[in-house]
Amino acid sequence: MFTQTLFSVVVAASTALANPLQHHAHLPILADPKCPIVFDGRVPLNTIPTFFDTSATNTIFNPDYVKGNDLKWSQILKFPNQTSRFDGDKYTAVEVTISDASIFQTQNGFRRAGLQFLKDASDGEGGKGVKTLHWSVKQDPTRPLNLTHEYLNVWHESADYSADQIQFQAGTLIGKSAADKNNFKILDRSGNSLYSVPIDQNQWQNFAVKLDYNKNQVTIYYSAGTTTPLKSVAGPKSANLAGGGQFQLGILKKPTGSDDVVNSGFQEKNLNEGQIYGGLFLEDSVDGCVSL
Ligand SMILES: *[C@@H]1O[C@H](CO)[C@@H](O)[C@H](O)[C@H]1NC(C)=O
Ligand SMILES: *[C@@H]1O[C@H](CO)[C@@H](O)[C@H](O)[C@H]1NC(C)=O
Repeated sequence: MFTQTLFSVVVAASTALANPLQHHAHLPILADPKCPIVFDGRVPLNTIPTFFDTSATNTIFNPDYVKGNDLKWSQILKFPNQTSRFDGDKYTAVEVTISDASIFQTQNGFRRAGLQFLKDASDGEGGKGVKTLHWSVKQDPTRPLNLTHEYLNVWHESADYSADQIQFQAGTLIGKSAADKNNFKILDRSGNSLYSVPIDQNQWQNFAVKLDYNKNQVTIYYSAGTTTPLKSVAGPKSANLAGGGQFQLGILKKPTGSDDVVNSGFQEKNLNEGQIYGGLFLEDSVDGCVSL
């Protein structure tokens, strides 16, 4: 009875509809965010997929962007019933997938699906002050990325769309050596490497990037698994963070064999790729606070 009551409270608080089958029993709280949350992209347990389809229900992400024109989020997102470090016992992982239908507007070169925080705006809080973006990733052996291609997975794009101030990438970066294609790479807007770490095919990898928009400095934090606290692995390094804009988290797969990657190039048919995300949130680090 107690369990049932607690469960109902959690579901009610999340404003999501219940699917009692998806219930993480007896999981410990792994880590709680310690600083004020500016944008919360964590997905409450038991959220039903169609929650993400319309503005009437989706209180977490932008229901309209950025995705294949003919797809709904309920077709794009999967729920692998896993828990990352900052998901605790109230939130769950969400997998972003791409298929042949993942063509946004007329961008025929890309296959993409990207989550935007609902409250994020091109001139908003996400691009001011000192903020730390958190994301955890895990690989899905049934939907592997093809690391011959270049992937952009997490980034902050300037309001005029002319640059990405920070870029979290995988695979073979076009025009660069393929030597580190098996690494995740964090780059600045000019493509300079800020941090790189091998993609772990088995366990969660937790990243946090502190963006000091006042000083134009970036600090990167990382840990693997769910119980190890993050630690500073790079920075503070100078990086031009000017230009406002918005975050995006998901998959943007670039084509091969093209000088015009947005519009043309080679993409294999029958794509079925995914990237599992957990613990998505932006926190305020103006007082130096970073959740580890
Ligand atoms: C989700 O995972 C939990 C914990 O491992 C398990 O008890 C539960 O049965 C799983 N639910 C589904 C729908 O697979
Ligand atoms: C990976 O992508 C390359 C280039 O598009 C393609 O030739 C190759 O068949 C793909 N490999 C797999 C395993 O899908």
